Amino acid sequence: MAELVFPDGFLWGAATAAHQVEGDNDGSDWWDWERRPGTPCVDRSDLACDHYRRYPEDVALLASLGLNAYRYSVEWARVEPEAGRFDEGQLDHYRAVTDAVVAAGMTPVVTLNHFSLPRWAAARGGWLWSETPARLARYAERVVRALGDRVTWWCTINEPGSVAFGGYVGALNFPPGRTDLRSWERATAGLIEGHRLALLAVRSASPTARAGMTHQLLEWASDARGRPFVEWMRRRNEDVFLEAAADDDFVGVQTYTRVTVRFNPVAATALRLALRVPPLAARVLPPVVRRAAASPTPPLPPGARRTQMGYELRPEALAATVRRVARLLPGKDILVTEHGIATADDADRIAFIDAGLRALHAEIAAGAPVRGYIHWSALDNFEWAYGYRMQFGLVAVDRATQARTVRPSARHLGAIARANRLPDA
Ligand code: FCB
Repeated sequence: MAELVFPDGFLWGAATAAHQVEGDNDGSDWWDWERRPGTPCVDRSDLACDHYRRYPEDVALLASLGLNAYRYSVEWARVEPEAGRFDEGQLDHYRAVTDAVVAAGMTPVVTLNHFSLPRWAAARGGWLWSETPARLARYAERVVRALGDRVTWWCTINEPGSVAFGGYVGALNFPPGRTDLRSWERATAGLIEGHRLALLAVRSASPTARAGMTHQLLEWASDARGRPFVEWMRRRNEDVFLEAAADDDFVGVQTYTRVTVRFNPVAATALRLALRVPPLAARVLPPVVRRAAASPTPPLPPGARRTQMGYELRPEALAATVRRVARLLPGKDILVTEHGIATADDADRIAFIDAGLRALHAEIAAGAPVRGYIHWSALDNFEWAYGYRMQFGLVAVDRATQARTVRPSARHLGAIARANRLPDA
């Protein structure tokens, strides 16, 4: 296969999120969720990767690989530990992190809210609380004022679809663990409003900012019977948020897999009926989506392999989602803010990166305005309810010693980044 050259100025990076790597994020809803009996969490985040203290070493390591971007998040629960009280020391910390990123020659891509909420906001209902959107915006303004001159790329909310779905209707794997359609709708509206207000705040605090949301997008497949369900899920989980991105400066695309939906005839008819009658839908759908989401092993197409997460191993899913965004929001800049694989075999990760980049390059060649590729994740880290078993890292982390070991995939992505091209296969 021919060598593939990427556009000038392409961002090549790795990503983390505060709660998953920093450690001791004990003012957040996730800290409590990990300790609450009955949740599906298999581990506690505890010290995580101790990145709060070890960031100088981690940032230097990522830059030494050849990457030119680092995506990380600022932790709201640290910056505003009590409602209305902002901690200047924490803002100084994130300023220091950002300075280190810039000094290492990397472009910071900063997420303002990556899943976790301050405990005080969660206690009032999280995304169901009418004030959460305005509070997020006020916090965002503080952060952007503190870091703004060093940062261009801002992500307001990470994967609002996952937050609304996982926490308010389906999977029970996110706080606050609600499971009804009404909560899902209200949380969705709250997240959209939070994004809208945060976007205004970011722009008012930094005229040079480029702001957007990062979206979890799936490649969907189904037979005819599964299609109404796919359309319904995609509408509620993806499209509402993409529509809310119409005024954004970029769309963050995060794609891990393809989901194939198949129903037996009875279930398909029941579901089609339920979708037409809202009160029926309110009763029937939560258990259906819950069951679907809880199934660790959804059916796969013949011959397909699974990742540690139980997902179909399908790096090319990224092309399908990028193509869809380019069609729905023509001309809008796209930044791949996450793409990665949980695997014990690093050769799988290398192959995943290459196949994903080949598929992505074809979309760029077809005109999709993709500005960069940021891999999930820089480090093996705390994978939410799945805990520390998932190995997403370009860099391995020894849980006992915190020692970092650079995997071959990290050097591989770094070499691609340096060359700005994918060599012949
Ligand atoms: C995404 C999240 C990220 C990480 C990856 C595996 O949904 O944004 O924090 O957990 O999945």
